[in-house]
Amino acid sequence: MQPSPDGAAVRPSLDGATVQRPPAEVRYADELARLRDTDTGERPPGWALSLTAARRFIVGDPSAGVSRKFVGDPSLIDRALVSLATSRGLMLVGEPGTAKSLLSELLAAAVSGDSTLTVQGGAATTEDQIKYSWNYALLVAEGPNQRSLVRAPLLRGMAEGKVVRFEEITRCPLEVQDCMLSPLSDRVLTIPELTGPDAMVFARDGFNVIATANTRDRGVNEMSAALKRRFNFETVFPIADFDTELALVEAEAGALLRRSGVSAAPRRDVLEVLVTTFRELRTGQSARGDTMERLSAVMSTAEAVSVAHAVGLRGWFLRREAGTAEDLVSCLAGTAAKDNSEDLAKLRRYLEQQLTWRRGAQWKALHAARHQLPG
Ligand SMILES: Nc1ncnc2c1ncn2[C@@H]1O[C@H](COP(=O)(O)OP(=O)(O)OP(=O)(O)O)[C@@H](O)[C@H]1O
Ligand SMILES: [Mg+2]
Repeated sequence: MQPSPDGAAVRPSLDGATVQRPPAEVRYADELARLRDTDTGERPPGWALSLTAARRFIVGDPSAGVSRKFVGDPSLIDRALVSLATSRGLMLVGEPGTAKSLLSELLAAAVSGDSTLTVQGGAATTEDQIKYSWNYALLVAEGPNQRSLVRAPLLRGMAEGKVVRFEEITRCPLEVQDCMLSPLSDRVLTIPELTGPDAMVFARDGFNVIATANTRDRGVNEMSAALKRRFNFETVFPIADFDTELALVEAEAGALLRRSGVSAAPRRDVLEVLVTTFRELRTGQSARGDTMERLSAVMSTAEAVSVAHAVGLRGWFLRREAGTAEDLVSCLAGTAAKDNSEDLAKLRRYLEQQLTWRRGAQWKALHAARHQLPG
């Protein structure tokens, strides 16, 4: 395994190509190993790290060479880790793009050393994809047994004592969500097709569930009261501070650009314009206090990072330089105006009316390029 320019481990696949996004335990394998080696804290049963070491893995510890991966209130991480050590699951709720999935990945990597036991919730998710299914050829040949059993993330997490991630749980039909009830409360999963001791899988120490739910799509209200009782809820908020958000977008977009083969680092003045634009369109408030129309599209930090990546790619692959405010105009439309023509009109009004009074060459360039807004 070789380190990539941004320090992340890169695992080549069988055909020699580089994996686009290895799981957190691979990306940060060195940091996890270092934390494990120096960990003197008490570990909850079945955990790969102590609570304090897991916290340092997520919020960072420069003295130990551990990077900050999640930006936010460290007390949220403490509460999340304590929840995972209890007999209730952890539910991360919040606006889209606030790093709920990233946080659940980091928590699973820290607690179990494995973030890949993941169920992606959706309208078509079935109990089979959560619990277990059968290899039909073996089922026909041998009947139900350990060999014909296909273990899905929940069964594996319980049997191996690991954290299971359930992404976007509220997008699943209610009756499917409810199959989590007995694993979470009785800590046992029954396989009625098998007999004897194989018919019951008892959860080992270290097993728990981290679910995420987006407050925009279908609200968490759609969860049954019975299931809600089995989770501790934590809300993940957008980054409140401008400088913190700017630094995060700069670091994340810089790393993405390096992985995309772009040698020019993103320009600070362009990123300032980008992050300001995102924050103002998100909150409906401009820097000089004007109230504007908020977009219905999600203008999250995660979206800002991907637009900054696209701006850098445009600048580099079209002109061999860092992206500019002109590139930003072209990249904004795809994020800010998805399927709502009203959003495009609001964005147009913003570029027309809210830029003239600002100082700085990139603001002027953004205003001058406003006619290039597609659509
Ligand atoms: N507080 C934060 N700390 C670190 N990264 C953040 C933060 N907020 C946003 N990001 C950025 O957002 C990306 C992760 O977004 P992620 O997909 O985890 O969000 P999400 O809340 O799960 O969104 P969705 O609800 O759409 O699934 C990160 O890779 C990072 O670039
Ligand atoms: Mg997510």
